[in-house]
Amino acid sequence: MSRLAERRQRLDALLLACRSLWHAQPFRELRPAWCETWPALTDELLALPDATVVALNDDCEAALAYLARHLQELAELPALTSISPRPVSPLGTQGARWAWEVPGRKQGQIEAFAAACQPSGASLLDWCGGKGHLGRRLALEWRLPVHTLEIDPVLCAEGSKLAGKLPIEQHFWQRDALSVTDWPQTGQHAVALHACGELHRRLITQGCAAGVRHFDMAPCCYYRGVEQVYQPLAGTGPLSLTRDDTRLAVTETVTASPRLARQRDREMAWKLGFDLFRREVSGSAYRSFKPVPAAWFRSSFVEFLQQMARREGLSPEVAGRLAGRLEGQGWQRQREVMRLSIVRHAFRRALEVWLVLDLAAYLENSGYTVELGTFCQRRLTPRNLLISARRV
Ligand SMILES: C[S@@+](CC[C@H](N)C(=O)[O-])C[C@H]1O[C@@H](n2cnc3c(N)ncnc32)[C@H](O)[C@@H]1O
Repeated sequence: MSRLAERRQRLDALLLACRSLWHAQPFRELRPAWCETWPALTDELLALPDATVVALNDDCEAALAYLARHLQELAELPALTSISPRPVSPLGTQGARWAWEVPGRKQGQIEAFAAACQPSGASLLDWCGGKGHLGRRLALEWRLPVHTLEIDPVLCAEGSKLAGKLPIEQHFWQRDALSVTDWPQTGQHAVALHACGELHRRLITQGCAAGVRHFDMAPCCYYRGVEQVYQPLAGTGPLSLTRDDTRLAVTETVTASPRLARQRDREMAWKLGFDLFRREVSGSAYRSFKPVPAAWFRSSFVEFLQQMARREGLSPEVAGRLAGRLEGQGWQRQREVMRLSIVRHAFRRALEVWLVLDLAAYLENSGYTVELGTFCQRRLTPRNLLISARRV
């Protein structure tokens, strides 16, 4: 068994054993069932100061270390989810011309991705490449022709213009990656930076069948294309992830500014205030609701609650009468949800690594040698895992 397959098996067993901790959503459940199993942990979480709550919700590794101190069974998890950086080959200096119109953060991601890949000599396919920035950078670095496949005609046209300014051969193919049958092609080197969900899964399955020589891909948005339950590429086992679970794997974002954090807290407190209202007047448990228009959060809580009540078929008059109490209760719930969510958030990277190991297992089973590493620091993008596979 390969090292990745062994890791996958251990992670599978551990995630299954502690499913109640990461599957429960404190936003939806007043008290997740694990609170009864671990009352001391619950009390300690609920008493945490604000700054610690922010830090732990923001830093998956720290949250996992915090949790592992309470739950011995998690001791192995940090090692299973820790992924080492890929070896880097410094890029040649290509000047700034390749990066015209590339936003700073994207430019950093592309440079880091390119430095963590090795040319295979085969022609390149940049899968779901947008304006083809990654393909352009690699074509320049490796002096190879590149084909960029992208569904959006405007991005294809703009990408072609940018490519025309450089001494490279880059072709744009305006195609739907989910229905195209003649790409990828045998012997190609396929690269994909942040092709979402089904798009990266399609690259792998179709690419393996077509005989792609080499893959380098950094997946993202694993939940895209998942209906109810994630269908593992490498075959189903005892652990199954819902769409919400796969979404949890990518909820980690780069730290919000204090203003955005305050706004996010308020939105959550108000939504929770509405949830309490609905539970109270209809006797129902949590029910999901459509996205709330941003403008509704710019009014007062009482107006927000009345608008929500009207939209969800409840009485705005009753909402108006109860708003004073519910606003305070919503904030109280928000404080609790933020604290109890530390547990769920501690598993984000573990779930992401599990999803990536599923892709890696599929590639290994299809005859590829697979390496997994990070290609950049998390602050450049939290979706920093790179799967590199070569046909044996
Ligand atoms: C997150 S962006 C990544 C773009 C590029 N790889 C980069 O890193 O700049 C995903 C790209 O996939 C493209 N896309 C979405 N659905 C697609 C489809 N069905 N077929 C081909 N491309 C698609 C989008 O238009 C977008 O350019």
